[in-house]
Amino acid sequence: MVEDADAARFAFAEQLIREAGALALSYYGEIATLTLTQKGVNDVCSNADIETEELIRRCLSVAWPDDVFIGEETGGASPAVGQGAWVVDPIDGTACFVKGFAGWTISIAYYRDDQVVIGLVYDPVHDEMFASRRGHGATLNGAPIRCSSDTDFTHGLTGISASHRVSPDPLGPLIVRLLKAGGMFHRGGSCALSMAYVACGRLNAYYEAHINSWDSLAGFLLVQEAGGWTNDFLGGDMLSQGGVIAVSAPALHEEFIKIIG
Ligand code: IPD
Ligand code: CA
Ligand code: CA
Repeated sequence: MVEDADAARFAFAEQLIREAGALALSYYGEIATLTLTQKGVNDVCSNADIETEELIRRCLSVAWPDDVFIGEETGGASPAVGQGAWVVDPIDGTACFVKGFAGWTISIAYYRDDQVVIGLVYDPVHDEMFASRRGHGATLNGAPIRCSSDTDFTHGLTGISASHRVSPDPLGPLIVRLLKAGGMFHRGGSCALSMAYVACGRLNAYYEAHINSWDSLAGFLLVQEAGGWTNDFLGGDMLSQGGVIAVSAPALHEEFIKIIG
């Protein structure tokens, strides 16, 4: 029964995230007309973010009235025990979106009892749909994906990101450690997309000292279902407060833990 309902939620959310992607993309073509609000240092929100979140919230609340909704722009309360929560970032990578370059996504996760059950990340510019359901694997446009089989950091790129929510001081030494391990850093505009790229092997790992649940839960399940390593991000007050996120290809996690300190 629960399994059938989750399968139905997955199918519904995959359709909805495409619709949301089309709405956001319609604004992306008309960037000069966006209304911007500065939320913090290097943290901006546009009317496209708000309207895309409102579309997702409205559709989910009609289809799944017993689930709670937590969105980056409109908030929401944490679920009760046994209750599911839709955790949504309507545009992850707004800094890219408002400047007119690709690398932004829509991220929808469904979370219940300290586990991510559904994780969807959609990149409308490239029409790439990263989809995962707990116990059912991860796919890119319907084809199964796996994390990289790399055994060291000398062959690929590692996603490292930052925000003004925490001190930047540890970042420099971390990047030095990565470079000394033969690695190279990459900073994308969307945490969700970087984590999806770890799931499909384009990046070998991803780290950010503080990330919110709406940025990362969908990517977290994608990496798990693609065979990767994930840190203990889930549980506690993560839904409302966020935390440290670290994920990697399976053979890299011990070295990655040393690099991130
Ligand atoms: C941001 C992006 C960025 C990450 C930041 C997030 P936003 O989300 O995911 O990659 O480094 O921590 O806040 O503001 O573009 O939705
Ligand atoms: Ca975000
Ligand atoms: Ca956002």
